[in-house]
Amino acid sequence: MNIGIVGLGYVGLPLSLQFARSDATVLGLDIDAAKVQAINRGQSYIKHIPAAAIAQLVGEGKFSASTDFGRVKQLEAVIICVPTPLNKNREPDISFILNTGRSIAPHLQKGVLVVLESTTYPGTTDEDLRAVLEGGSGLKAGTDFHLAFSPEREDPGNPESKVALIPKVIGGYTPACLERAKAVYCRAIKTLVPVSSCRAAEATKLTENIFRSINIALVNELKVVYTAMGIDIWEVINAAKTKPFGFMPFYPGPGLGGHCIPIDPFYLTWKAREYVQNTRFIELAGEINTAMPEYVVNQAVRALNGRRKAINGSRILVLGLSYKADVDDDRESPSYVLMDLLKERGAEVAYHDPYVPVIKPTREHPHWAETKSVPWDRETIGKFDLVLIATRHSCLNYQQLAQWCDCVVDTRNAMAGIATQPGQVWKA
Ligand SMILES: NC(=O)c1ccc[n+]([C@@H]2O[C@H](COP(=O)([O-])OP(=O)(O)OC[C@H]3O[C@@H](n4cnc5c(N)ncnc54)[C@H](O)[C@@H]3O)[C@@H](O)[C@H]2O)c1
Repeated sequence: MNIGIVGLGYVGLPLSLQFARSDATVLGLDIDAAKVQAINRGQSYIKHIPAAAIAQLVGEGKFSASTDFGRVKQLEAVIICVPTPLNKNREPDISFILNTGRSIAPHLQKGVLVVLESTTYPGTTDEDLRAVLEGGSGLKAGTDFHLAFSPEREDPGNPESKVALIPKVIGGYTPACLERAKAVYCRAIKTLVPVSSCRAAEATKLTENIFRSINIALVNELKVVYTAMGIDIWEVINAAKTKPFGFMPFYPGPGLGGHCIPIDPFYLTWKAREYVQNTRFIELAGEINTAMPEYVVNQAVRALNGRRKAINGSRILVLGLSYKADVDDDRESPSYVLMDLLKERGAEVAYHDPYVPVIKPTREHPHWAETKSVPWDRETIGKFDLVLIATRHSCLNYQQLAQWCDCVVDTRNAMAGIATQPGQVWKA
């Protein structure tokens, strides 16, 4: 079977490898020529995906990449894994999906299956994408070609998380579309979870991410309340999670990050307005989570104040730039917000992150582009007035940090179990 995967990023690349390992021939399509070249040379550009895995499948002729969308003609299935960000007004931007639709539509053959995997609001597949595909191909979904939605479930940074073993939800535009999609995915994925429509599948993914966003907001709120009471939220969560039923631990932090949790809930709030529905719970969670960097910076101000230092003119190191432990993904990372807030207050700001040696240019944080991670040694780290732990990478030596810096603000409980002086560590 010839399968095309459009968008060779954090979702599309591992999915391509999984299909290629499952005896399909995979063509990766991307508009980014650098990624296409890297794959064809057997190189990786994502930290947790080993180059050897790509090189082997490329060498066996099971996987290749191209920027030529004309090759869609040769494919029996096309799976779309392109970005779904928010625009500058924090509204859904499905232009990447629609552009992909425009690129593939003229080349679609009768009988082909098109599956969207990008996280999006209910209706994207059967309204927006369908219209573009039908308009550009002259074919009818459900009659001439199959159409489905199947959300990706990635757990970046978790080495135990294997694409093949994560149950996959699938909804089809018609029952026949669902059957075709199941027949394709069952080659590569062990457990399939069929649902009645593309919209139910789209809503399932949003529900999963909204669930996370709301629970993270809850523990962030509890953190603020308990801190004021002199109670350690981490101790409380660790105790509460011993309950064998009815509780699931979520952990506080400096704010939401990544390509999913800060963004996806607002795909639903936007679409809900079309149906005159309010989404107060989701908005409230967003408000609490976006207030976290400000709270953390205020804790840093208090920590410095305790040392008779002003934040203005202090040298502050943000430790961890990626949004999550042990990954190299810094998209939407709250560390950038922390660095901006600290700088606004007059601090001299630097960062250390072994996974982000230099900050790439981004639309959101162009002013940090080309900034380099400072070295990890006593001389460098000892010069900072305060170190703010934003991401708990497991490769970092927190014992050394305790020896090198006498003022640490810890948003991730990374200093738990490390011998420190009274007043040296502030949880935030
Ligand atoms: N990263 C995750 O952990 C994760 C988990 C679950 C779901 N998702 C969802 O999956 C989708 C993709 O996310 P990602 O993290 O893989 O994004 P990514 O930015 O890592 O990769 C997207 C790729 O699509 C390519 N692309 C953009 N426009 C294109 C076009 N018109 N034609 C062809 N290629 C194009 C980009 O060059 C890039 O290589 C998003 O909707 C996201 O919300 C991501």
